[in-house]
Formats: sequence, C-alpha cells, structure tokens
Amino acid sequence: KRETQLALTWQCPSNIAIVKYWGKRENQIPCNSSLSLTLSNSYTEVKLALQKKETVSPVELDYFFEGQKNEKFSERVAKYMQDNARFFPFLTDYAVRIDSENSFPHSAGIASSASAFGAIALSLYEATYRLENKELDQEFYHVASNLARLGSGSASRSMFANWAEWGKNTLIPGSSDEFAIPVTEIHANFSNMYDAILIVEDEPKKVSSSAGHSLMNNHQYADQRFLQANERTARLAEVLKNGDYAEFIHIAESEALTLHAMMMTSVDYYLLMKPGTLLAIERLLEYRRETGIPVCFTLDAGPNVHVLYPEQYKDKVESFIMNDLQDTYKKVIFDKQGTGPVSVK
Ligand code: PMV
Repeated sequence: KRETQLALTWQCPSNIAIVKYWGKRENQIPCNSSLSLTLSNSYTEVKLALQKKETVSPVELDYFFEGQKNEKFSERVAKYMQDNARFFPFLTDYAVRIDSENSFPHSAGIASSASAFGAIALSLYEATYRLENKELDQEFYHVASNLARLGSGSASRSMFANWAEWGKNTLIPGSSDEFAIPVTEIHANFSNMYDAILIVEDEPKKVSSSAGHSLMNNHQYADQRFLQANERTARLAEVLKNGDYAEFIHIAESEALTLHAMMMTSVDYYLLMKPGTLLAIERLLEYRRETGIPVCFTLDAGPNVHVLYPEQYKDKVESFIMNDLQDTYKKVIFDKQGTGPVSVK
C-alpha cells in the first residue's frame, strides 16, 4: 500500500447567478458576462490525497462521490486533469485520490457542478502550491477561478465571497472571460441576502447544461440575448452599489424567465418548469404586491425556485414560504450569502 504524501481539504460553495451565463464558445469561453451570489450552506467538500507513484506515468485518479466510485464523473475529472496538466506538474509523480461530498442532499436538484469543480480546482491547485512550498496568495484564487471555469463555467464565480462577476464586460474594469472577479462595492441592502431553494422536483435534469449551452449556437435570438446579458451585468453591478431593490428585482426575475425562454425557443426546444414552479412564482408575486416586501425569484436551469430576500425580512418571508408555498415544493433548503471557499485544516 502506498503512503499518502500530501492530504488537503477544501469546501467550495455553490452560487446562484442573477445575470445568467447561457451559451459558450470553444474552451469554456462564455458568450456573455454573468453575475452571481455565492451561497453558504450548499457546498462540496473535496478531500485530496496524493501518493507517490513507483514510475512516472500520466494521470492516475481514484474518484469517490459520497463513498462510491463514480466512473462517469471520474472520467470527466481525469480528462480535466490531463487537459490542464501544465497547472498540476505533480501529476506525473503522484497518484490522486479524491473524495467528494455535497452538504446538500443527493439529487436535490441543486446544480452541483459549480461547487464540485470549484473544490476540485482549489484542491489540485493548492497541491501545486504546497509541493512548491508557496503560501496561498491573491494570485492563487485568481488562477483557481480560471481552473474552476475550465471544469464548469459557473464554478469560476464560486471562488469569491458574496458577489462575483465573470466574463469580459467593457463597463466592468478587470473583468475577463477566463476568470471571475469579486464585486466589492456593495450597498447595505445587498450585503446580507438569503436564498430559499424550493425543490419542486428532485429528478436529474432531462437536458444537461452543456447541451443547453450548445443550443445557443444556432439560436435565432442569440445575439440580442448576449447583448442584453452584458448590459444587465453592468447594470446589476451599479444596482448592487446603489441599493435599488426595484431594479434588482426586475433584473433577477427577467433573467430567470429569459433563461427559460431561450430553452423554449431554441431549435430543439424544451421546457424545464413544472406546475409547482409557476404556482410558487405566481404566489410570490402576489405576496410582494400585497406586502411591498422586496422578495423575488430566480431560476437555474431546472424547475426549482430560488426565493431571494434581504435579512431584515427573513422571518416574514420564511413563514410565507412554509405556510403559503408548501404545496408547491418537495423540500426547501434555506441558504444565504456566503464567505467563499474554505480550506479545512
Ligand atoms: O456552469 P454550467 O456549464 O453548468 O452552466 C450553468 C448555467 C446556469 O446555471 C444556468 C447559469 C449560471 O450562470 O450559473
């Protein structure tokens, strides 16, 4: 039995996009910029262990998800390591074991690729740093974001606390297609957001997000959509600064519906919303009209509804979710704005 030479652990949170990334080019370059909220309770924990190989050889990976060998994802991760081997020079000398676990229930319908690839990129890249005796610095997170992107686009944004932007945007200094950047000028209104995830359906997605992205390649509305998303990303960065709830709500909800409208209007059209999705949205809009509370919804590429609200309305909105929406979902995961990835010592 080989001895473990280096072991390390990272927890990387998931994120929810307010302006959506939908459509990509070669090499995981996004067709438009996007902006997301980093979550807290929904994260992936990756334990990485390196063992010295007897002979120099290409990638050797043992990948376990929640204690089980997962061949399909293992192949994807091995290919990812191979393709990006220049960032992980130790791969020729060390065999890798990855044990991955999600904090949220399996098949909860939460997109886990952002947190999973975030944690994988952080762990592999920290191994490079450790074997070179380097301390983690700003540059580490910057490159880790690039590496996370190469695994799953949205993972690039999970590297940072609170709000993060990804994708070249002429109105956002420092933005890049290759890595995400933290959005740091935030009004008090948006400094403590909550996200209750209504799990309307917990079956695996019918259409993968890569298949969805590729349907934007010959989508009739693609150019207008990319333009709109870029404008909205810049606008949202302004709104986060000036605290305008009304405009935030407008951007968030229109983005959710536009994402789904793109799916419904692609050449191979499809529909991911379920009756519970629409019921929850309608009741939420009515609740906002009646109470004036700045609560809104967004959707990911699936039927689940993310309900967003600032901390000061937490009790009211959560009792509304429990009492008036409970027949629209199977379970609810209460999450909130988070402080970014954690290296577990
Ligand atoms: O990172 P991917 O390739 O799984 O794409 C995610 C796309 C959305 O979740 C629908 C939107 C986003 O920006 O996160």
